[in-house]
Amino acid sequence: MNDSNTFPESSETRTGSTAPRRATPSGQALPGAPAPEEPEMNEPTEPRPPLPSDPDQAAPAARTATGNPAEGDPADRAQKSSYLTTAQGGRLTTTDHSLRAGDRGPILLQDHHLREKITHFDHERVPERVVHARGAAAHGVFRANGAAKTICRAGVFDEGKETEVFVRFSTVLGSRGSADTVRDTRGFAVKFYTDEGTWDLVGNNIPVFFIQDAIKFPDIVHAAKPHPDREIPQAQSAHDTFWDFVTLHTEATAHTMWNMSDRGIPRSYRMMEGFGIHTFRVSNDKGETSLVKFHWKPRLGVHSLVWEEAQIANGMDPDFHRRDLADAIESGAYPEWDLGVQVLPDSKDETFEGIDLLDPTKIVPEELAPVQIIGTMKLTKNPTNYFAETEQVAFHPGHLAPGIDVTADPLLQGRLFSYLDTQISRLGGPNFAQLPINRPHAPVNDMHRDGMHQTAVHSGVAPYKPNSLDGGCPFFAGSDDAALIDVPVHVEGQATREKPASFEDHYSQPRMFYRSLSPVEQEHTASAYAFELAKCYEPVIRERAVKVLGNVDQGLAESVAAKLGLPAPDPVDLDPVTESPALSQVGREWPTDGRQVAILTCAESDAAAVASLAEQIFDVGMVPLVVAPTGQPLGKGDSAVAIARTYFTARSIEFDAAVLADLPAEPEPAVGVMLGELQRQGKVVAVVDSAVAAAEAVGLDRDYEGTLEVNGLSAVLPSLLNELAHHRVWAK
Ligand code: HEM
Repeated sequence: MNDSNTFPESSETRTGSTAPRRATPSGQALPGAPAPEEPEMNEPTEPRPPLPSDPDQAAPAARTATGNPAEGDPADRAQKSSYLTTAQGGRLTTTDHSLRAGDRGPILLQDHHLREKITHFDHERVPERVVHARGAAAHGVFRANGAAKTICRAGVFDEGKETEVFVRFSTVLGSRGSADTVRDTRGFAVKFYTDEGTWDLVGNNIPVFFIQDAIKFPDIVHAAKPHPDREIPQAQSAHDTFWDFVTLHTEATAHTMWNMSDRGIPRSYRMMEGFGIHTFRVSNDKGETSLVKFHWKPRLGVHSLVWEEAQIANGMDPDFHRRDLADAIESGAYPEWDLGVQVLPDSKDETFEGIDLLDPTKIVPEELAPVQIIGTMKLTKNPTNYFAETEQVAFHPGHLAPGIDVTADPLLQGRLFSYLDTQISRLGGPNFAQLPINRPHAPVNDMHRDGMHQTAVHSGVAPYKPNSLDGGCPFFAGSDDAALIDVPVHVEGQATREKPASFEDHYSQPRMFYRSLSPVEQEHTASAYAFELAKCYEPVIRERAVKVLGNVDQGLAESVAAKLGLPAPDPVDLDPVTESPALSQVGREWPTDGRQVAILTCAESDAAAVASLAEQIFDVGMVPLVVAPTGQPLGKGDSAVAIARTYFTARSIEFDAAVLADLPAEPEPAVGVMLGELQRQGKVVAVVDSAVAAAEAVGLDRDYEGTLEVNGLSAVLPSLLNELAHHRVWAK
């Protein structure tokens, strides 16, 4: 990774001189240009070296296959010849025509170029991940603040230490080409390339898991994936097999509740919390141990889509989340998360305040054990190549750092087997740790040899221990040599397939979660249950689901039953719970970095005023997207403003807020659709006073709390910022 990957300030790349598209006359660049240079109209024919990658991109660090520092720019791994060649570097005169016996004859078997090209193409795909197949990733840096050093000796937590990271966000259920904004759990996997070996924190955006024991993972995944006969529905849980399983195997209730809440449809990967879920055991320099739960806290706050947005996005922009992540990084709105830990005593019974810390369906409320911040992660570069990096990266919960160890959580124990196993098949053999994105940034001497796709050139004759022929190398690390630590936990017991009694409590935590939500969040949750269950074919599954909800909260069960036209279940005696206000997403103020603001214009709009507003929006770290009837720039010459979207291509979901700059007497019908959607979705719509009447004629609701009538475009920004800080107009 190059030097620019160290905590740059947000403004650094926003106005970079190589930025390809000028949104405003002063040169603010719109994200999303496919290439670093504006293409020529005709196909270029003069040989020249390949273009460099975009300035917002980084490639995996220059490291040898065995983790040693390597010379040169990581980008040099890319193909560099100015000429088209074979895989062996032979220059070619054409790739447009096969070698044929006459211009109407059959193709000759001797056409080595054709055979090589088609053969390689035939093998371009590797199996997608069995879960989390669809993802998006970014490079970044983690900087520790030193606060974890009292509990954990890992060097990654040394005060001020910066460690390169690669983060992959994902959905769980869909195939690689599925839509981003489906209702699902999101993966949040972070690879820390530490000096002491790679540490992977492979978590989700939901702090509890569906199941308590890894042996049920194939069951939950088979139930949640599309039905095996018709292979539908894609990437969603709104179907019979999913609800059949989770209503019978009720330890899934907590996770399902989180899924049905707004957490199941995040606004952006940048606005998700992340959780390590399991309890980990950490140890410090003195050998003292603590139990911890890891939390990622997004600096932008936790925000979600509303269901209508999610559904429209699935059709209009299935890449909604990956585009958002890449655009934000390209435009310099670098996403940041604080890493925090809940520190819990390493007690013999591994419980805290009655909560079993080995049960991954349970959280420890933040009010009982505050999240202590131990560092910050900033994502600063997009990958250069999706396949090489995002697709081939291999995370594993068993990749640990000295001082970070696992616990006996039966879900984690199974994961420790599963990831390496699946990757051998997904990445075609045992040597995938040598792929550039997976190379550790610490020297490797593992004595593993040979196997498919071996790229390391191992020297020596003695890949075994003990040896004398290679001088005894490699040697064992002593405790002073930053060795991994297996905490000597006392283990005893009879072999059993029983689970602890505490694992039988399936309802108190979903009840706590539901009751901690604000009324609007509770309503969203009830509607999500009703939507998903209404999609089930079998009435008995709907009835069973409502019965399960009766064990969580009678009001929720009644609300879902009413929406499904079912009788309310008989009330059950439910134990009271203490609410955890930290679980609600509503009611605070957050930074607005990277928020997208539509400026709705017409051909007659005042280009200078629009440009000035766009500049102001850029300057506060948001992205202005000028929408117009066609893609032709607004205004002329040097003062022209680039059009980002047309009414033909734009839809409400792309925008967190909209500004109506001007409207013609008879606006496009799409403007009315847009206004209706924006207001239904609780978004602020600022309208210059002169455009109010025309806007009203196409559907603007002036009584809606989010309608801001402003006196000219110059007055827009302060009110906009104020509203956007709350994410939405919640009164809606
Ligand atoms: C707390 C529970 C779990 C969490 C937070 C979790 C999280 C994740 C994440 C984030 C990924 C995607 C990694 C990436 O971006 O490449 C993933 C993939 C995967 N998970 Fe899990 N998972 C959990 C439980 C399990 C269990 C219990 C199993 C199996 C016993 C399992 C098996 C897998 C497999 C096979 C993959 C695909 C890995 C690959 O192909 O590289 N997971 N998981």
